[in-house]
This record gives sequence, C-alpha cells and structure tokens, in this order.
Amino acid sequence: MPEEDAPVAKTYSVGIPQESEAFFLKGANHLGWGMKNRLSSIFDPGSGRTVMLAFDHGYFQGPTSGLERVDLNIVPIAPYADTLMLTRGVLRSVIPPTFTGGLVLRATGGSSILKELSDEHIAISVDDAVRLNVSAMAVQVFIGGEYESQSVHNLTRVVDMGNRHGIATLGVTAVGRDLVRDARYMRLATRICAELGATFVKTYYTEKDFETVTSSCPVPIVIAGGKKLPEAEALTLAHRAVQQGAAGVDMGRNIFQSGSPSAMIQAVRMVVHDDARPEEAFEYYQALVADTSDG
Ligand code: 5RP
Repeated sequence: MPEEDAPVAKTYSVGIPQESEAFFLKGANHLGWGMKNRLSSIFDPGSGRTVMLAFDHGYFQGPTSGLERVDLNIVPIAPYADTLMLTRGVLRSVIPPTFTGGLVLRATGGSSILKELSDEHIAISVDDAVRLNVSAMAVQVFIGGEYESQSVHNLTRVVDMGNRHGIATLGVTAVGRDLVRDARYMRLATRICAELGATFVKTYYTEKDFETVTSSCPVPIVIAGGKKLPEAEALTLAHRAVQQGAAGVDMGRNIFQSGSPSAMIQAVRMVVHDDARPEEAFEYYQALVADTSDG
C-alpha cells in the first residue's frame, strides 16, 4: 500500500482563463498539434524564421561541388542549421541520428540533369517519412514546365499523405531553363503551391517586387540561395529577402561552396534571426575566417 499523501493545499486559479496563443507562423493557426510541433522544429519560434541548409542536389545532379563528401563537408556545420533539407539516402547513410533539428525530406525524384527535369514522381512512402521522423516533405513543382500537371499532382498527393500524419509539405517552385524568374512568375508559382495545400513554399528572390510575392502567398516563403555568389552578395540577398517578408532561407551552394561554409552559415544566421545588416554579417564572416586561419 502506498503511503497516504500529506494534505497539500490545492490551487485551482479560478478566474484566470487558460491562455490560448495564436501560432507564430503565417497561415498555420488552424493546423493540428503534431503539424505545428513539427513546424516549430523547422522555424525558430523566437524569430519566426529558419536557416535551412539544403544539400539535396545529388538527387538529380550527383556529387556536385561542395557535396562530394557530405560526411566531411556538411555534418560538421549541421549544428548551425535550424533544419536540414536532404534525401532519405543521405539521411540514413551519413547524418547522425543525434541531430535534433528539423528535417525536410526530398519526396520527389525520377529525372537527372541528363534529361527533362520536370518529369518527376513521388519517390517516398509516408511510412518511411514517419519512420525517419521528418518534419516536412518537399515536392518540386514545375509551373509552366513540360510536366507541370504531373508535378502539381505529386504535390497534392504528398499534401494528403502528410496531412494524415501531421507532416508538413514544402512546395518547391522549380524554374525551368526557359522561364523568367520575375515576381510575376513567382507570385503565380508560390500561390498555386499554397492554394493546393503546401504548408510552406520555397522560391527564388526577385530583385523587383519580391514583397508582392511574400504578401500574396498565404503561407511562409523561404528562399533558395541559387548559384554561388560572393559571400557579401549572398548575405545581401538573404537580408533583402527576410526584410521583404521571407520567413528564412533554404540555402545550399552559397553555404557549402563558400570559402568557409562554417563561417558563412553563422553569418547567414545573423541576417535571418537577428536582422543584422549584410555589412555587419559580412564583417562577422571575415572575423570567423580570420580566427580559423590563425588556428
Ligand atoms: C535542389 C533544391 C535545392 O535544395 C535548392 O535549390 C537550394 O539550394 P541552392 O541554395 O543551392 O539553390 O531544391 O533542387
């Protein structure tokens, strides 16, 4: 028999209503608890933004520069990322299961740089996504591309799969070679992804009118970094994007092809989470590089 508890006064706080906070992320207030919890592992609830480190490029282009050895090039800087964006093959074979940040899993594939890129299919079952404990699945959507309708169908099926299990869906707007990357196109592509159920959308920054892209999309937008730029320019791009309404970056080449990937991802964090000016962040980058070379 357990001992009887000594009487301890009870406090019911009658008259203090239980608070119910609005969820911090755009367009996510009416989602379920599991989905919101997963989104909180992707986006920092403090800043409302994310630094996603994208290194899924191998799924269509093989071992691209900077990703020849994910174990040596990416694993050491993974702790600086809020979220990793990757394929299940690399997740299982290289990423330590002790990584506790967000995971966004590439969920489509089927074409390579040798063929028509928009000819993709769903490349994972939701059972495996659950088994890998991912926060979101990412689907490439080729608006205006040759296989536009097939890629949109991939998105809607992954949204259905994810919704059944509380896993978010990232719609990735993929721009084919012949399409213009302007705000008009990005408004169209991001809005289609959101309307069809993507929980958040990845797109490219546009020099002009990017704030119209973020404001007309009812869910958060993160930007891809795109091709490698000098570090100061990449930090400026990230700064402009978040100041114009992006909820963060999903950056790959501008981090892993940088002269110092570790310094670069830390500088990107300053811009994204602390609203640092790009000049400040670049100075920080240079100081970190100098520290490393002093050894
Ligand atoms: C590949 C992708 C990449 O994840 C995305 O393009 C981000 O990488 P980068 O910053 O190098 O553009 O979606 O299809």
